[in-house]
Amino acid sequence: MSTESMKPDPTGGAQANNVVAPSPEAISRAVELLREGQVIGLPTETVYGLAGDGLNPSALACIFEVKQRPLFDPLILHCVDAGAAFDLADDVPSMARELAQRFWPGPLTLVLRKKETVPDLATSGLPNVAVRVPAHPVAQALLRAFGGPLAAPSANRFGRISPTDAHAVRAELGDAVPLILDGGPCAVGLESTVILVAEHQPVLLRAGGVPREEIEALVGSVLHATPVDDRPQAPGQLKHHYAPRKPLRLVRDLRDIEFQPDCGALLFGNPDLTQASSGVIENLSSTGDLREAAANFFRALRALDDHPEVAVIYALRLPAYGLGLSINERLERASS
Ligand code: TXA
Ligand code: MG
Repeated sequence: MSTESMKPDPTGGAQANNVVAPSPEAISRAVELLREGQVIGLPTETVYGLAGDGLNPSALACIFEVKQRPLFDPLILHCVDAGAAFDLADDVPSMARELAQRFWPGPLTLVLRKKETVPDLATSGLPNVAVRVPAHPVAQALLRAFGGPLAAPSANRFGRISPTDAHAVRAELGDAVPLILDGGPCAVGLESTVILVAEHQPVLLRAGGVPREEIEALVGSVLHATPVDDRPQAPGQLKHHYAPRKPLRLVRDLRDIEFQPDCGALLFGNPDLTQASSGVIENLSSTGDLREAAANFFRALRALDDHPEVAVIYALRLPAYGLGLSINERLERASS
């Protein structure tokens, strides 16, 4: 045995031997596992997903089990293109086609009337199915090789912070999945925007990677579903979500932050930090760029949550437009 292998593992035993580069061999292995009904870690442009065969009830059950997710919270089915996505729907309003044309592949999920063939477990027994065409090249390659829809919630344990790189998936799920495809850090960094288009007027079920304004510019005003405490009418509206283990306080002003050695601060823009003599600071974007902030958001939140010196996290509310709204919604839930 080499002395090297006897050194203590710097990752504390969390050696990432199920994290692999997305080579053609790894994609083939992933397809094999998915055909067996197993689940894997999959990069998308929004966040990493915990993917399983979307039409295989036992794979779907495995997703709920690994994620420790309540069965009433339905899954998104990821498809290779709009044709495959709309094949899962019973009725596709023209508005859905317009949205797909403009935003797919990309961070938008459409909720439509489901076809009989979609397993009830995927939709938690609801008459609607959520579908999305992801843009990430690894997700695209896997969907093409697999040849069917993949159900994929974010690859975190239920209620926790979504992972935006392969090592965060590893930290969340460890060896509970046989394979995690490493597609690098997620470019968008926030989950998809979820829009229900099965009713008369479109309803925003979750703010996300496509800013609401861009959707309204295309299809007119959308209703906004409000978060609820317990079993959601429109699922995905749980109030307490995206939660760090440490308390998170959402503030409007830098002066509301008590900069102590045990304080972590999630900031934005170019704040005057002359009063901030102590604490751990994560700036989402020093140039005030909301896209950059979104891409950094979950990584920065996780870094403060994992930081040994930090006992309480303060987060500065972001400007209330574009992706700032999507980030604020997550901060509100994380702090509730
Ligand atoms: O960006 C994303 O959407 C990521 C990546 C992996 O694609 N996935 C993701 O999945 O965020 P998940 O399961 O963490 O969130 C899915 C959201 C939930 O809020 C769920 O309640 C909602 O979509 N949803 C799914 N199916 C639905 C349905 N039939 N009706 C209403 N809401 C639904
Ligand atoms: Mg999630």
